[in-house]
Amino acid sequence: MSDPKWHKLGAVADLKKQPLQALDIGSVHIALSYADGKFGAIGGTCLHDGGPLGEGTLDNACVVCPWHGWTFDRLTGESPAEAPAAVARFNLKEENGDLYVGLEPATPDKAPVTAAHPLAREIKREPGQVRVVGLSTTAMNHERPRFSTSDYLLETALTHAREKLGAETKLIKLNDLSFRACEGYYSRGADTCTWPCTITQQDASDQMKEVYEALVFWGDVILVGTPIRWGAPSSLYFRMAERMNCIQNQITIANRVLIRNKVASFIITGGQDNIQGVAGLMMVFFGELGFQFPQFPFIAHSRGWTAEDMDVNVAHVRESAELRDGACALVGRCAAMATALISADQPVTSTERGGRKAHPI
Ligand code: FES
Repeated sequence: MSDPKWHKLGAVADLKKQPLQALDIGSVHIALSYADGKFGAIGGTCLHDGGPLGEGTLDNACVVCPWHGWTFDRLTGESPAEAPAAVARFNLKEENGDLYVGLEPATPDKAPVTAAHPLAREIKREPGQVRVVGLSTTAMNHERPRFSTSDYLLETALTHAREKLGAETKLIKLNDLSFRACEGYYSRGADTCTWPCTITQQDASDQMKEVYEALVFWGDVILVGTPIRWGAPSSLYFRMAERMNCIQNQITIANRVLIRNKVASFIITGGQDNIQGVAGLMMVFFGELGFQFPQFPFIAHSRGWTAEDMDVNVAHVRESAELRDGACALVGRCAAMATALISADQPVTSTERGGRKAHPI
């Protein structure tokens, strides 16, 4: 066993106990698998975005990357879905009860020819009128929808933007989208929370991509409408917000700001109070993503803690000319600010993140 190209991995009996493991031998990374009485050794670094294949899972004959689900034959390294892409294959041999790996790849990495995910494209504003996205976060029964005070004011603002300000508008109702909750990939490692979102890359049916398209690319103004639920924005709002970790994480891991020249503001309604708390939560979050705010960045309505008669609450909002005017004025301030930002065209595209340690890049 003096050939320096063979490296002893350990006792065969011990190595058989783990179906898949990551082995780092100097600069060589290997995903070692054992199944059906046979060992396999392939390159440990995923060809998609560098995921650690040895920390993934085995699915029949394939190693599944833990980051975005690319698969590689555990014996040959070939990727059935991304063919002709393949990670390197390494030779193995058993001697005297020990397993050895040849550190020179028996077959090399073959780079994938797959097109990049559409959301990975360059961030560039297409020319045109100011574009306003209304983001409804209220949850309700699809077959028997009720009157929503936050949606009512949101739609009032969008109609005003379209008809009086000449803006293009789009209404996204989170209640109509099917999207997974954030699965916390950043907890595995900062690089694992990727842009586009790890889930979006794994799951073509996940509709959070519509929100990403609207917020990162299409919209200039984002108007978020939410009810107050237990003193906080709606549960759908939080489900969406957590999926935006990937936008904020780009600032941390790549010093790259995805949100450029964009304005956010909020419409908050509820039968009970905590308007300022809800506004504060949303402003901190959207500020962390890179959105800017106009003067007086939210409108709101609540009749206070003792007002349990919600039907009266609904009637108040429906009949309030002040709230309708407030919604129109809010979107007007946002559109004016967005227009100024677009014409100055000096977006912040990177930031030093004062007080925070940058992830090594
Ligand atoms: S890094 Fe492996 S699938 Fe993306």
